[in-house]
Amino acid sequence: MKHLIDINRLEKSEIEQIISLAGEFKAGERKSSVAGKTACLMFFENSTRTKISFDLAAQKLGMNVIHFDGATSSLSKGESRKDTFENLSAIGIDTVIVRTTEDKFIDNSLKELPLPLSFVNAGDGLTAHPTQALLDYFTMRQIFDSIAGKKVCIVGDIAHSRVAKSNFALLSKFGARLHAVAPSYFKPKETLHVIYHDNLAEGIKNADVVMMLRVQRERLEAEFNADGYIEKYQLNSEILNKYAPNAILMHPGPVNRGVEITSELLDSEKGKTILEQARNGVFVRMAVLEMLG
Ligand code: CP
Repeated sequence: MKHLIDINRLEKSEIEQIISLAGEFKAGERKSSVAGKTACLMFFENSTRTKISFDLAAQKLGMNVIHFDGATSSLSKGESRKDTFENLSAIGIDTVIVRTTEDKFIDNSLKELPLPLSFVNAGDGLTAHPTQALLDYFTMRQIFDSIAGKKVCIVGDIAHSRVAKSNFALLSKFGARLHAVAPSYFKPKETLHVIYHDNLAEGIKNADVVMMLRVQRERLEAEFNADGYIEKYQLNSEILNKYAPNAILMHPGPVNRGVEITSELLDSEKGKTILEQARNGVFVRMAVLEMLG
């Protein structure tokens, strides 16, 4: 694996290898083979979980970690992206971990960059967030032996969610039954090959996994009617326990308490899986960095 750009470019066997390696790191059974290498965190968009867990993952592997700040870098003086990456490579960076608002940022960069750098997509625009889908799958697999035939329902702002797109891409490879609940204004242009519902109870009925999404207000063009959304799509313990009592509850974060999910549900026993996702992110990202070598 030279880069990790999109789930669609991973074979099932590679995904299983990452999950297996993450499990070994979590159990403390695996040593790093990338100690002394250097990772550069290049986050042009805000992040808590992804940025900090990549930083910690690289440190746990014994890698050097450099933080690239776009605003104070020479990009702000007009240096091109190509020259920036060529210089980072010359300085000794091995792996660049990028979060950006630009769709296909890494593909666009690689068109002009035959460099010995490895790239990891830490979320690009509306396109993909592969390590989130991998850590979500890892979390599901800690509970289920197999995801084949399981009903997974993702609820909320699907249109603006690179997490939903990467999750659907991954889960479809493993035979999950994919459902989504979204109002028409949060349905993406592409079908994503999932069954859509407008009704929350109908969509989550008998689900094995319910994954809630944040409304990405920063990406909305039209005025958002929060009260109307909450009335129809907010999940609480009563609805979850009535329609999907055996489901695990997931959320990639950040959560908007009181919008897509109630505080009482988030703080309940069911909400604990959401913090487990964040914890697993470190081990999955260790596995990805280890596989990039
Ligand atoms: N899930 C996720 O990507 O969270 P952050 O934006 O905090 O990294």
